[in-house]
Amino acid sequence: MDGRDLVRAVKDIGTERGRRALLSAWRHRRADAVGLPRRGAERARVPGLLTGTEPRPGGGVLRFARSELLVRVTVGGAVFWGWDGAGPEPSYAVVGGGPEPDPRAVLEPDTEGGWRVVSERVTVAVSRHGAVEVRTPGGTVLRRELPPRWWEPVEGAEGAGARWLQRSKVPADARFFGLGGRAAGPRLRDGVYRLWNTDPRGGFGPGDDPLYITMPVQVVVADAGTHLVFHDNSWDGRVTLREGEEGAGSGADRPGSSELRVEGGPLRCWVLTGTPARVLQGWSGLTGAAAVPPEWALGYQHARWGFGSAAEVRRVAAGYAERGLALSAVHLDIDHYDGHRVFTVDEERFPDLPGLARELGERGVRLVSIVDPAVRAGDPVHASGLEVGAGGAFVRDARGVEVRGEVWPGSCAYPDFTDPAVREWWGGLYEERLARGFAGFWHDMNEPVSFAPFGDATLPRSARHAMDGAGGDHREGHNVYALAMARAGWEGLLRLRPAERPFLFSRSGWAGMQRYGGTWSGDVETSWDGLRASLALVLGLGLCGVPYSGPDVGGFGGSPSGELYLRWLQLGAYLPLFRTHSALWAGPREPWEFGPEVEEHARAVLAERERLRPYFVTLAHLARRTGAPYVRPLWWGAPEERGLRDCEDAFLLGDALLVAPVLECGADRRAVRLPRGRWYDTATGAAYEGPGQVLLDAPPGRIPVLARAGAVLAVRAGTGGGDGAGEGAGTGAVTLEAWAPARGRTGGGVVIRDPGPGFETGEVERYVVRWLGDAVVVEDEAGNAVEDVVVRGL
Ligand code: NOJ
Repeated sequence: MDGRDLVRAVKDIGTERGRRALLSAWRHRRADAVGLPRRGAERARVPGLLTGTEPRPGGGVLRFARSELLVRVTVGGAVFWGWDGAGPEPSYAVVGGGPEPDPRAVLEPDTEGGWRVVSERVTVAVSRHGAVEVRTPGGTVLRRELPPRWWEPVEGAEGAGARWLQRSKVPADARFFGLGGRAAGPRLRDGVYRLWNTDPRGGFGPGDDPLYITMPVQVVVADAGTHLVFHDNSWDGRVTLREGEEGAGSGADRPGSSELRVEGGPLRCWVLTGTPARVLQGWSGLTGAAAVPPEWALGYQHARWGFGSAAEVRRVAAGYAERGLALSAVHLDIDHYDGHRVFTVDEERFPDLPGLARELGERGVRLVSIVDPAVRAGDPVHASGLEVGAGGAFVRDARGVEVRGEVWPGSCAYPDFTDPAVREWWGGLYEERLARGFAGFWHDMNEPVSFAPFGDATLPRSARHAMDGAGGDHREGHNVYALAMARAGWEGLLRLRPAERPFLFSRSGWAGMQRYGGTWSGDVETSWDGLRASLALVLGLGLCGVPYSGPDVGGFGGSPSGELYLRWLQLGAYLPLFRTHSALWAGPREPWEFGPEVEEHARAVLAERERLRPYFVTLAHLARRTGAPYVRPLWWGAPEERGLRDCEDAFLLGDALLVAPVLECGADRRAVRLPRGRWYDTATGAAYEGPGQVLLDAPPGRIPVLARAGAVLAVRAGTGGGDGAGEGAGTGAVTLEAWAPARGRTGGGVVIRDPGPGFETGEVERYVVRWLGDAVVVEDEAGNAVEDVVVRGL
């Protein structure tokens, strides 16, 4: 118990929930004391010297004195290697075992007794001691993994498994990104980052780590190239990063380093190389295409923990409508449940939810429901879960006793989503939600949380999981718990409502979660630091393949100043999930609660989001097709521009826009770093030439947003606030907006229109922009001039 735990324990002990949480934490500790294999004496092992090789498709097996290594280059250039017999399957992240081996890639002798596999896009070289190097086709080293080290139990501790350590070197100029959602990012500085999905309990800022989504995924950007490395292992682990230094010491470079220590499970790894766009495309091929949210989920949404009744929901929705503020969805938190129990409704405070859903639906406002995984013991849902399979749906301890934890409704059981039968049962429960009129789902508390005044606020590490037939304990199952829950929800909704794309987002998750939906910040603290952290999360998650996310606009707890609220709203308007949300104990987040001036500015923000919604639709479909996140770091198109790698306070929204939010109190202008090319300030029309840095005005009413010269994007004409009808969402025709290319140059862009609520992929429309005499024209693929376009930047 550390100091913080102790303070919390003393505070909580005075409440009934606190007492129960304390008991539950003791029970979990006891369960682990008897249920976890004891770690006795351990023996360290390294691969030893190479003894032989055996060719296999795409590479081969390399045998060492004390281990063996499978190396495979796949078609498209993704590289896999696994030690000690580990192959790509089974995997919670990688779909279908990954791409086929590249038949042209063969294992051949390298220098100094090593071996290599040469392919069109990448070379993998293995030294005779077992170091693995990933090189560009030109031979530059992107990453060098040193021979790994295992610690395995000496006799008598079967099942304890081996811990392992993998040290890696990257170029001295490299920058690290990713590892899931990290508040201190997007650039991951020197430090230790734990791989264990964690609820920071009550709010977090940039100093809190880990958070709800951790992933052993690093994106590394260096002059030599960009690569993504994924150690496919869900066990608890720690990554220690150290950026390199050029000309360190005697003038020689000190490479950057990454050390990964994992508590067990396979040592296997995927590496993707190329441009950032290629790397993310490869990653989405490996782990699955991102779900496209329904069109309405790209509009502004309002959530609240503490809606006391349906009347309050009506009042808030009417508040938006009366003021002509576009609103796309309202989210109901646990307070609409009966006694906080999942899949129930408090019929007194929320009578006739289907009626409420219909009423809101007439105004274009959807209802979204929170879904918590923990089921109150003794509840009808619990009883129905007990009927699943031979042993019931819930996680058991090593002795076979159902594990209980403390959550909002009291003593709870936890569905084991790593069991296919449990997923099927759970997915069916969404029928009740659909019948209540809910259109979308918000998975929460799924790290999973069990309140505890000390220790880990989750399930005991010894708790058993089906692991889809493989069997395992919570040390392995913990990080994929929410991913499997998302799969259960997604597949259930597909069965129940096959003609519609589900809308699902989840607080916790793991690599591959984008297949089932997105995520949000979780309980980001209400402060300027929290505002900064919310951008870091969205950027980092996007680079890990999860393109749809966004913060609690205004922060989760407390009451933001009008200024902070407005700056948050202005940032949120350019992020995929645009949602205000706050805690039970927090102040209001409705725009009109901050005075007329903030309300006026908020109106412009919401109207601009409405105008850009068709652009968000395009970005959502592109994310599915290409793996490119909507929100990208400035270095996305130019990783070789070093200054851009360190720029953390601005981002690209698709190809067309550069957004520079105000992240500092009192600022009314800010420096904006520009990538190469011409950029227009969309508010003033002024043109700037990159690369470079400009100082731009950011009065209270707006943040700098720049458009790339030559960009074409889809926008919705005549939408947003001001019409008083409260039907801002989804009205107005889609038109094109083009930004003049520099003289003598051309530009272009793609548009994918919303194909409706189903699974149609939408057609890709390509446009070219060029100068014709003194005019700028936009042409479609057939070369026909497009009439319905507004050209700006002239
Ligand atoms: C924790 C979530 O992060 C938060 O968004 C939610 O309001 C509360 N749980 C209550 O359900």
